[in-house]
Parts: sequence; C-alpha cells; structure tokens
Amino acid sequence: MTDAIQPVPLDEDAYYQDPAGFFARLRESRPVAPVRMPGYGRAWMVTRYADVRTVLSDPRLARDVRRWPGGGRSRPGEATGVYAHMLHADPPDHTRLRRVVQKAFTPRLAALSPRAEEIAAGLLDEMAAVRGDVIDLLGAYASPLPVTVLCELLGIPAADRARITVTVTAYDNRAEHQRVERELAAYFTELIAARRAEPGDDLVSALVLARDSAADEGAADGLTGSELLATLYLLVMAGFDTTVNLIASGTLALLTHPAEMARLRADPSLLPAAVEELLRFTSPVNHANDRFTTEDVPVGGVVIPAGEWVLPATSSANRDPARFPGPDRLDLGRDTSGHVAFGYGIHYCLGAPLARMEAEVALGALLLRFPGMSLAVPAEELRWRPVSLMNGLESLPVRLA
Ligand code: HEM
Repeated sequence: MTDAIQPVPLDEDAYYQDPAGFFARLRESRPVAPVRMPGYGRAWMVTRYADVRTVLSDPRLARDVRRWPGGGRSRPGEATGVYAHMLHADPPDHTRLRRVVQKAFTPRLAALSPRAEEIAAGLLDEMAAVRGDVIDLLGAYASPLPVTVLCELLGIPAADRARITVTVTAYDNRAEHQRVERELAAYFTELIAARRAEPGDDLVSALVLARDSAADEGAADGLTGSELLATLYLLVMAGFDTTVNLIASGTLALLTHPAEMARLRADPSLLPAAVEELLRFTSPVNHANDRFTTEDVPVGGVVIPAGEWVLPATSSANRDPARFPGPDRLDLGRDTSGHVAFGYGIHYCLGAPLARMEAEVALGALLLRFPGMSLAVPAEELRWRPVSLMNGLESLPVRLA
C-alpha cells in the first residue's frame, strides 16, 4: 500500500540554495509530506515546530534498524566499522553509549575555552597579515578554529589533522560517503592502538580506557571495540561541519544585518544570546537524522504508516511563526528558548556546550579584531554546499577593513 505514496517533487538546487524557502512552502501547504531528499529514499518531512518536537521525542520513532517492524534489518555501514554509535541507537544501548562518552567529554570542556581563545587569536593574526585583500573567512577562520579545538580535545596530533579533515563534500553520494567512512575507520584504528600503547590526557585515551577497563571487569557500562571506533567517527562527523557552518553563517547573518551587528558591538554581553539567535536563524543543520516508524504514528493530523522513514526539519521548526513571532527577522535580543538547532529529546546534541563556547569565542574575537569587516561579494552570489543534511556555505569572501 505504502508504495502508492507519491513524494512531493523536489528541485534539488533550489533546496540547497534556499532551504528556508523550501521548508516555508511545505510548512504552509503540507506540514507532514512524503519527499525524496537527495541521499535518502522516500521519507516524511515534518516541518512544524510542535510536530518536529513530537517526532524527536516519541519512542515509537526509532533509529536502530534492528527494530524495523516485521523483523528488523541489518545495520548499514557495519562493513566500514563506523556504525555502532549513540546516534544510531535506541535505549537502552543509546543510554549506555551516551553516558560513557558524556563522562569523558564534559569535564574536559572548561580547560578548552582559553585554548580556543588562543587558537582564534593565532588565526586572526594570520588573517591580519593579508589585511586589505579579500579573504575566505570560511577557510581561514570558521573551519580551522573548530577543527583544531576538537582535534586537541580528542588528542589528534597536528600532523594528522589534514588526514582526518576529510570534509564530506558529497554527503549525499553513497560511494563518496563510504570512502570517507573507510578512511576515518583506518585512521581511528591506528590512533586507538597508539593511545592504548601510550595513553595521554585526551578524550580518545579516556574512551580507550573506559572500553578496556569495562571489558576487563565484564561491566555492563562500557563500550565494545566497534562502538569505540564508531563513537570517534561520530564525534568528528558531528563536531566539524556543524560548528564551521554556525561560525560562517553566523558571521554572514551579522554582516547582512548591520543594525544587529552594531547592537552586539555596543553590548558584548549580548554574545551568548546572539549565538542562540544565530543558531535559530541560520540552523547549521537542515534536518535531524531520519527516524522510522515502528508502528502507525499520527503526526500533525496525518497517520504515518509503520515502516516509513521520517525527517524532522529542525531548521523549519526554528522558523515556525507559531513558535517564533516574525521568524525570518534576526533579533539578537529575542526569546530563543526551545529552539531545536541542537535537536530535542534523547539525541539532543552532546556537543552543544562545546559548539556554543566555540561560536562565542570565534564571533567575539572576530568582531573585536576587524570592526570594519564587510562582505566582498553581494550576498545573493554566495553558494551553499549541495548537502541535504547540512546548511553550509561553500566560501565566505570578506574584506577585513
Ligand atoms: C553548531 C554546532 C552543532 C549543531 C548545530 C549540532 C546539531 C546536532 C543535532 C541537531 C543533533 C541531533 C541529531 C538527531 O537527533 O538526529 C546532534 C547530535 C549530536 N551531536 Fe551535535 N551539533 C553541533 C556540534 C557538535 C559538536 C561540536 C559535537 C562534538 C564533538 C557534537 C556531537 C554530537 C553528538 C555525539 C550527537 C549525538 C547525540 C545522541 O545521539 O545522543 N555536535 N547535534
């Protein structure tokens, strides 16, 4: 029966270049609609705030394909060894995997903030050396800052960073994605062995220790070897592009809203609130990962049959006028509470405190250093990467003074 469901036609380039426009049209006309997004099969796109929160918190929508209705499916990506992480898991596995990582991750963040400031200052110094010329802020600043911070947190040596900064330019291309999976799996297999032989004070060492001591003691609270590998892969995949996009798109939003930029310069204590509004307004992630229905589930007045994929459009929820009045207006002082740029429910972004810290450091330091910064091309000429999941610029040419 469900094969009769006809997906809404999609103009891929229009979606990539203006996801907010695409989502606004769906939200108004068909807020729960079957679509065929690039890189996905048919999935039900859910675009209203209330429905997105429902989908993200209803346990009848699952991530672990072994729970597929009528017998379960084998887990894709197992061939490359990077599948068994928390974002592919449901409770109780999810609870266990997240707890182990959280325990190693969170206590390390406080010490990272001064380090992020140093890294930002170093990058700004390098940019100042080319002052006067047009510079790609994405390549020179928005990208290296979070990549360096996360690598230091994980304990990835500087010499290896180029090897793991395999930006997935073709996310929606399965073969390209698998190539990246294989490369990162090979790299992390080597790193795990190195840290096991010689542990450091980094997150990878802490997770290797958590894995090995739990295995020795037969504890129920550890990680298996494949879970450890997959977790490291997840941290890199979830932690790079997302934050890069927030810093780059956040800077663009400020440059194209000079009154808001001036407001922030006049009152730097607005910075944490500004980052929340930039998260809501720019939504570095278009939609959360797909979930499937384990039974028939009513969502927003539509019954989604069992065994269907569902995509909760978090960026659309963040622009839903029913939740955020005048949603297309950037207002650094607005009440952004409840925005879903980091998701909602059990899979709420584990890295949110790190991402917030990085964005505050990045934007705060950038505005101070280059008060005369301006866009070097008309905003309409900027191109966005052709990726269904992520909403990120290809480049951001600016003049520093
Ligand atoms: C601006 C930056 C970021 C944004 C917008 C973002 C967004 C998100 C979203 C929407 C989810 C939920 C996905 C879903 O439910 O399908 C998520 C989950 C996750 N994020 Fe982030 N993220 C960011 C940065 C980071 C960073 C820096 C890290 C860590 C290195 C990180 C690690 C994770 C992890 C591990 C999960 C899975 C949590 C779970 O399954 O319980 N993220 N993120």
